[in-house]
Amino acid sequence: MKTLWTCFLFAVIAICAGAPENQLPCDLRETSHGSVCVCNSTYCDYLEQPQLTDSSQIVVISSSKDGLRFKKTTGYITDGKPLTVEDKQFTDENFMAEAIVVDQQRAWLQLANIPQRLFINASTKTFRISVKREQRYQNVSIFGGAFTGTVSHLIKQLPEDLQVHVYKSYYHPDGIAYNTVRMSIGGSDFDMEPWAYNEWPRNDPQLSNFTSLDPRDLQKIEQLNRLKTVGQLDELKIMGAAWSAPPWMKSNDRWTGFGQLKSEYYQTWALYHLKFLELMRAKNMPIWAISTGNEPLNGVIGFFFVHFMSMGWTPWQQAIWLNDNLGPTIRNSGESKVLIFGNDDQRYTYPSWFRKMRSSRNNSLSFLDGLAVHWYWDELVGPQLIDQAHTEMPKKMILNTESCIGDKPWQTHGPELGSWQRGESYMRAYTQDLRHNFNGWLDWNLVLDEQGGPNYVKNYVDAPIIVNATSRGEIYKQPIFYAIGHFSKFLPPQSVRIETEIESQRNTFTQLSVVGFQRPDGSVALIIYNGQNLPVDVALNDSQRGAINLRLPPRSWHTVLYK
Ligand SMILES: *[C@@H]1O[C@H](CO)[C@@H](O)[C@H](O)[C@H]1NC(C)=O
Ligand SMILES: *[C@@H]1O[C@H](CO)[C@@H](O)[C@H](O)[C@H]1NC(C)=O
Ligand SMILES: *[C@@H]1O[C@H](CO)[C@@H](O)[C@H](O)[C@H]1NC(C)=O
Ligand SMILES: *[C@@H]1O[C@H](CO)[C@@H](O)[C@H](O)[C@H]1NC(C)=O
Ligand SMILES: *[C@@H]1O[C@H](CO)[C@@H](O)[C@H](O)[C@H]1NC(C)=O
Ligand SMILES: *[C@@H]1O[C@H](CO)[C@@H](O)[C@H](O)[C@H]1NC(C)=O
Ligand SMILES: *[C@@H]1O[C@H](CO)[C@@H](O)[C@H](O)[C@H]1NC(C)=O
Repeated sequence: MKTLWTCFLFAVIAICAGAPENQLPCDLRETSHGSVCVCNSTYCDYLEQPQLTDSSQIVVISSSKDGLRFKKTTGYITDGKPLTVEDKQFTDENFMAEAIVVDQQRAWLQLANIPQRLFINASTKTFRISVKREQRYQNVSIFGGAFTGTVSHLIKQLPEDLQVHVYKSYYHPDGIAYNTVRMSIGGSDFDMEPWAYNEWPRNDPQLSNFTSLDPRDLQKIEQLNRLKTVGQLDELKIMGAAWSAPPWMKSNDRWTGFGQLKSEYYQTWALYHLKFLELMRAKNMPIWAISTGNEPLNGVIGFFFVHFMSMGWTPWQQAIWLNDNLGPTIRNSGESKVLIFGNDDQRYTYPSWFRKMRSSRNNSLSFLDGLAVHWYWDELVGPQLIDQAHTEMPKKMILNTESCIGDKPWQTHGPELGSWQRGESYMRAYTQDLRHNFNGWLDWNLVLDEQGGPNYVKNYVDAPIIVNATSRGEIYKQPIFYAIGHFSKFLPPQSVRIETEIESQRNTFTQLSVVGFQRPDGSVALIIYNGQNLPVDVALNDSQRGAINLRLPPRSWHTVLYK
């Protein structure tokens, strides 16, 4: 409650002092699993892009389990003092008790009944992080989420002012500065029902009835135009993917289950994609990239537990379709500049999926501009598989194209309002992937309701922003939203990853991670995550700036900016 009131007071002061509305702090509310930031029609938290006014300035933006959300701390490199990010827990007497109870890995400290003093000593350990600007890796340029049928449906129900807050929170520079959306070609699992173009007439290879977009697309286009205006975007990148062809094109004549595209419709399915691209361009909403299809393995091996729209491909068949149909159809059309991404499925299929494609059609991979990965089973296999794919195809972009929490049997199927842990899962995943050649990340649904839907097969999951579909008067920004924002907001297109290394990671209990970038204006952005229930001291050694010392609170993450 204390935090809530402090925040509320801040808000009032900010309004009274005439603070610009793009600088309002989070209106923190304690909920079932932690704290969320509440927005309503008249109030929503934003942060203007921090400017580094002189070359010795350092700006740290922080979020923490204890309630910091994009808190800005400013200091100077030259004054030698460590820059301390203040958080409630530093001064809170309850901190030690809470730390011991919450952190299972350290529970032995409590059992062993070790005096607090010793525990505190352990907390002030210093981690050395070297930052080598000369060692440069991939560019990072794409951040976004999915504008599914569900998202479109939920946003339409909100009052106009709240719609603006959703768009601005995600796409405006004062929000988290996304620049891309993913959308389905036809329906997806997050829709009110399965659907595709030209469902009727059946057995119609010329797609005679696919002459205009669906009303659901027109609604999305109207919303995306609004999103572009609110976000002040010159260009909105749109990535399209199809979940399933209309049933008549498929071997099982169904939306889901074990079913593949009938080979007599390979060219029809390529034409279907081209028509979608042309119709979207005609509405002044051109598509930037498409994939070869969402999660192809769902219709081959995943059909036991996947009950939503899917269409199966083996890599060998898909190589034939890409090489003989989709690739040439797109490249020889007015849409030839549209990028094509392959796979669009889980990490464990890398890199063998592409090797199998090559074995089936040796030129098929030349039609691919990029590789698309979904994060759902990342725990099963390491990022080395992505590194291998990158080594074999170094020129191709790599994007994560889908992520959410709540799909696994052992997880809550739906939102956990305020869950810091879920935010931390995102923090660890983004950090890991961006340290392994990824050029960006597209999250799944931009918004969901309190249940994690609506979804026509009850496949409920979490999202970075949850809308109150009951009152339609509030939206809740989850810790996940800020986890993503610590990357997307501070990494403008053409930021390049630079070498960062933690030099003193001695014991396995330590949960500290870092990934660093040089931004187009030359400044450095480091994203540092402290997963411990203890504060840490961080001694940065930048190859051009020398020493920079920070003291960071427990269970927190930070974006550190300096020139
Ligand atoms: C919106 O939120 C602000 C900040 O918490 C509050 O002062 C205001 O009363 C709320 N407005 C409505 C209509 O609930
Ligand atoms: C812990 O800190 C105290 C006070 O700084 C010091 O006297 C003591 O030796 C330290 N203990 C250990 C184990 O480092
Ligand atoms: C064309 O599609 C529309 C919309 O799905 C449908 O109502 C109509 O019956 C279809 N036309 C034919 C000839 O099947
Ligand atoms: C690719 O496959 C074609 C047809 O199977 C064959 O003629 C050609 O030699 C192959 N090219 C390479 C580089 O292996
Ligand atoms: C960013 O990297 C990707 C993958 O290597 C590349 O395709 C793209 O052209 C790069 N963008 C720029 C502007 O350098
Ligand atoms: C949504 O609004 C309703 C009605 O005001 C309220 O009872 C409910 O607690 C809200 N949901 C959440 C998750 O806060
Ligand atoms: C900082 O890094 C440089 C190499 O980039 C090294 O020479 C120097 O000793 C390091 N300083 C500290 C304090 O570790």
